[in-house]
Amino acid sequence: GAEPTYDYIIVGGGTSGLVVANRLSEDRNTNVLVIEAGGSVYNNPNVTDTTGYGKAFGTDIDWAYQTVDQEYAGNYSQTVRAGKALGGTSTINGMVYLRAQNAQIDAWETVGNEGWNWKNLIPYYRKGEQFQGDDFSWLEGSGVAYDPAYHGFDGPLKVGWSESQLNDGLAQKLNTTYQNMPVPVPYNIDPNGGQMIGYTLYPKTVDSKLNIREDAARAYYYPYKSRTNLHVWLNTNANKITWKAGDDATADGVEVTLANGTTTVVKASREVILAAGALKSPALLELSGIGNPDVLSKYGIDTKVNLPTVGENLQDQMNNGLAYDAKSNYSGVADYVAYPSASQLFSNATAVGAKLLRKLPAYAAQVASANGNVTKAADIERFFKIQWDLIFKSHIPVAEILLEPSGTTLDTEYWGSVPFSRGNVHISSADPTATAAIDPKYFMLDFDLQAQVQAARFIRQLFNTEPFAAMAGAETKPGLSTVSATADDQGWSPFIKNNFRSNFHPISTAAMMPKEIGGVVDTSLKVYGTSNIRVVDASVIPFQVCGHLQSTVYAVAERAADIIKGRI
Ligand code: FDA
Repeated sequence: GAEPTYDYIIVGGGTSGLVVANRLSEDRNTNVLVIEAGGSVYNNPNVTDTTGYGKAFGTDIDWAYQTVDQEYAGNYSQTVRAGKALGGTSTINGMVYLRAQNAQIDAWETVGNEGWNWKNLIPYYRKGEQFQGDDFSWLEGSGVAYDPAYHGFDGPLKVGWSESQLNDGLAQKLNTTYQNMPVPVPYNIDPNGGQMIGYTLYPKTVDSKLNIREDAARAYYYPYKSRTNLHVWLNTNANKITWKAGDDATADGVEVTLANGTTTVVKASREVILAAGALKSPALLELSGIGNPDVLSKYGIDTKVNLPTVGENLQDQMNNGLAYDAKSNYSGVADYVAYPSASQLFSNATAVGAKLLRKLPAYAAQVASANGNVTKAADIERFFKIQWDLIFKSHIPVAEILLEPSGTTLDTEYWGSVPFSRGNVHISSADPTATAAIDPKYFMLDFDLQAQVQAARFIRQLFNTEPFAAMAGAETKPGLSTVSATADDQGWSPFIKNNFRSNFHPISTAAMMPKEIGGVVDTSLKVYGTSNIRVVDASVIPFQVCGHLQSTVYAVAERAADIIKGRI
């Protein structure tokens, strides 16, 4: 029979994929197909509930990827969550809407991605955003505030606060506490303008009026689903890209397995666009014959494009927490975050920086050697020096500290913002439904532990500072009997390595960079050596950002759509 042909096939109907599908299908002559492994979660309360973070974990809409045992972190596996649904990970994430420090995006251009800088990305953060900032007077007492100059008001994605917001003045007490710290962390009215340092309340991807989660499908798909040129196949697994005959590595379609178990090929006349997420898109490239021949040949896959850095450069963060008894009972959602700079986190930041600088060559050599020198030590060292400059010269946040009161507990979450360790993800089988071997190499490099330890000490200091000190009871996690008040880094290490989890921010596994320094896609997000395959998801982000990922993923996808349309 006559199989339909689409102009573009987008693999993955998640955060980035639905942005690109929406924008490409604005032209009614362009036929777009989205292939999504999951189903619709439009009416799933584990998704919509604005107080329901975590409810979807372990359900059938959570990929719950397992890492290989983590050599530098207790030798056990970690779970890396990701959404399996129309809307992807935006349907299960924490809804935090925080961008990046401007200098971090500028660093993308510094490594050779011409045109990818903060100034050029800002219009795309704004284009996607529908900030519901007209009136938050109903949240008086909550402390929420923003600067309208930084936000977009006409985009599809609703951003703001919900009525579940804790509304009892705690925000102001926390602010006073930060100002009373030995090295104060200043108040920052709105961290989404490129300057993140400080204490603030962050907005979220919520529909403020309906008090439900705003995800990529609600923003970018459902209001547009009547477009006859926008097609979505749910519960359909993409297995690999198929090739046009000839040597020029031109994709002509995607092999898929439908919900009923049938495997078929669907044709694309223009492009195949990967948006399956940072732990899946590189695996799809490898299954299609794009990658390191040594990896592909193990599973009987012919190399179509020799690109050894596919799946390398994997960067994630490590999440941990301290907890305290509270002297009051709290109910509601709190969005309190502090972003300390190195000099606010470390009392001896200059010495810490000098010591770290001396270690960078050895760190780079270790990363290169761990991946068989697929990435070159000299290139990694340059990336590390850029990261060092960001921390110690541009003063980006070096940690993120969240306070989450719940009932009679004052919970905290924290992570080092920019770990140096880099791992990889590669297929471990030719079976397209098998999970790849995911190895983030958490804590491979010791600065990453040092940042974790110092963030934990910083939280102890916070709870020793008034007015918070009087509002909190005993530290229940880890507790002073587990980690003493004077513990050194080694003293903290067992608690940290036994309690951390993935921060669920994997990036850079199909990094946008010049090919000579390890890139997988060019500045138009096209895969090197191919004529019509792009990657548009978190895989292309070359360096970790200090905000949370989704706002930057949305912005990158918005810009990708303009590139594909030939507007840039
Ligand atoms: P995304 O995962 O959104 O999309 C990939 C899609 O591809 C999925 O729908 C998947 O099912 C599909 N797919 C995969 N393989 C396929 C195949 N073979 N065939 C067909 N479809 C396939 N960020 C933030 O900014 N604020 C926050 O609060 C949080 N909190 C948070 C919590 C948790 C638990 C997680 C897991 C993550 C976060 N994040 C976050 C991170 C953020 O949500 C994430 O980085 C982006 O949503 C990733 O978007 P992508 O488009 O890259 O992948």
